[in-house]
Amino acid sequence: MSFLIQPAPVARPNRCQLFGPGSRPALFPKMAASAADVVNLDLEDSVAPNDKDTAREAIIDATHSIDWNDKTVSVRINGLDTPYWYRDVVDLLERASDRLDLIMIPKVGNAKDLYAVDALVTAIERAKGRKKPIGFEIIIETAAGAQNLDEIAQATPRLQAMSFGVADYAASMGMQVTGIGGTQAGYDMLADGEPGSERALYPADPWHYPIVKMVAACREHGILPVDGPFGDFSDPDAFRAQARRSAILGCVGKWAIHPSQIALANEVFTPSADIVARARAILTAMAEAEAAGQGAAVLDGKLIDIASARQAKVVVDQIELIEGSA
Ligand code: COA
Ligand code: MG
Repeated sequence: MSFLIQPAPVARPNRCQLFGPGSRPALFPKMAASAADVVNLDLEDSVAPNDKDTAREAIIDATHSIDWNDKTVSVRINGLDTPYWYRDVVDLLERASDRLDLIMIPKVGNAKDLYAVDALVTAIERAKGRKKPIGFEIIIETAAGAQNLDEIAQATPRLQAMSFGVADYAASMGMQVTGIGGTQAGYDMLADGEPGSERALYPADPWHYPIVKMVAACREHGILPVDGPFGDFSDPDAFRAQARRSAILGCVGKWAIHPSQIALANEVFTPSADIVARARAILTAMAEAEAAGQGAAVLDGKLIDIASARQAKVVVDQIELIEGSA
């Protein structure tokens, strides 16, 4: 146990991040009117190379002309391995309105990537006298990003959130998969038994390890961990299953790459009435135990102790944050 206190992440709801290509500005008002907590206007992989300039202009215009209400507004810039990213940063920081909250940096591989972007952003903010500092969010989606999570998480105080990007991660890792998220055919364990006999296959989760690693790096440094995209927007059950497991692993939200996924993400990342009731009962029982000088108690035939109160507080804090900003 370290004497260092784990810092709290920024207090804002981040249950669903809705993406839309910057080259489809007709979608922007629909994104603004949606129930997503965060909107991500994209300049990267959903925008073709020939459309980068017009998409950038459309996004800058939308920061001035659209009422984004209480949403967190984020723009995904191009990766540092492209010729586009510096122009994204310069134009956004020089000309986007103060309604721009975050820029999302994809394919971050190490802390120096963030240092470079931070240096450019800081210089432009000073030159232009921007009052509101831009926050960063990033995507962990390469082998380097997964390897260097620890230094990345400490790279800049601008960093508010990290998402895990399944598709680019799979490509970078040389994984033999084509789907964007979810279980992957062939990634199973075969139950014990005689060769040739009927044996159960247990589908496993190929994303478990990097997500857990990312959540730990985020939690150590007070950053919001977010599960990335799920490509098959015609399969709400599979979306829900993957989202639930990332909620249980500590993620605060998930991307939506189609409006049909927004309600699903909001549902999963809003603690259910049952778990909230259970958490409140634990806090009440532990307060009574504490008043009686006890560190442990029994609730519904189960042990609860001071750690149970810490677990319960996570759930109660989450629901209060969400309800408070509703
Ligand atoms: N945000 C808000 N509204 C959206 C939307 C989005 N990302 N995508 C589609 N819609 C709207 C459509 O305009 C349509 O509205 P209407 O009922 O008023 O006509 C409705 O939702 C249904 O859309 P649908 O026809 O099913 O989708 P599509 O074929 O127009 O687009 C995608 C499908 C997947 C191409 C589109 O959703 C998309 O571009 N998603 C984001 C991709 C992205 O940003 N990727 C980068 C991150 S991985
Ligand atoms: Mg990607």
